Amino acid sequence: MNCFRGVEGKDALLCMLTDKVDTEVMDRAGKQLKVISTMSVGYEHIDIRECKKRGIAVTNTPKVSTDSVAELTVGLLLLTARKLLEGNQAVKKGEWGKWKPMWLCGVELTKKTVGILGLGRIGFGVAKRLKPFGISRLIYHDVCAMTEADDIGASFVKFEELIQESDIICICCNLTPQTKHVFNMKTFKKMKPSAILINSGRGGVVHHDDLHEALTSGEIAAAGLDVTEPEPLPYDHPLVNLNNCVVLPHMGSNTWESRNAMSETASQNILDVLNGKRAVGEVDS
Ligand code: DGY
Repeated sequence: MNCFRGVEGKDALLCMLTDKVDTEVMDRAGKQLKVISTMSVGYEHIDIRECKKRGIAVTNTPKVSTDSVAELTVGLLLLTARKLLEGNQAVKKGEWGKWKPMWLCGVELTKKTVGILGLGRIGFGVAKRLKPFGISRLIYHDVCAMTEADDIGASFVKFEELIQESDIICICCNLTPQTKHVFNMKTFKKMKPSAILINSGRGGVVHHDDLHEALTSGEIAAAGLDVTEPEPLPYDHPLVNLNNCVVLPHMGSNTWESRNAMSETASQNILDVLNGKRAVGEVDS
């Protein structure tokens, strides 16, 4: 949605992930506009090329939501792998009967190969948190190999190897033309039938119709999504009612700690740019 109200004559705009900031908004703001500060890590809602053309600085809030999103990713993985939501729903619906040996059996993280797509701050935070679970192998794919990966014993692999070898895949990357819909039916067919896919990066990395087909036909075992395409995902979307798919409403950074730090960073970014300083969150356009 375009965010027009109150933008006229402003030197700085503070926006959210859900505010589309395009040429119309910039025109409406006027030629004095110097900075657009988004209270988010992602900035795909801002027309960066147009900002560059007009000399408008764009800033985001990097670093401050790394821990909250990494924690949620691990939580979502546990919810999905151990069928925790199904268990809770069964209790609420009065379906908790006599103990049954095969009821609500999930899989352990112990001795599994974990693959991370996107070993940025969040991917690294997820990998670091998963190591103590006793996973057997940590692999990752990104645009290039990262030196920090050695600190946690993660090995760089090609995308093909990541999808074929991983028992658990965590998508922690941005949405770019290269990552758009990289998880599609062709990809799912190469994954293990027991594989679990977790997405806390961006919804557009996964083709959702193909994911539904993969989850219902048994190409992969389960998925946990904190980000979807579209957002919000309609409550009657076919993925929502699958038992092997846990959908959360994009709440990775929803902690008081992150929100406070994000709002402070977003405001400080504006002050820094207006005062001629390099802002911590300045996005290289
Ligand atoms: C971000 O900051 O980009 C997150 O996805 C929103 O919490």
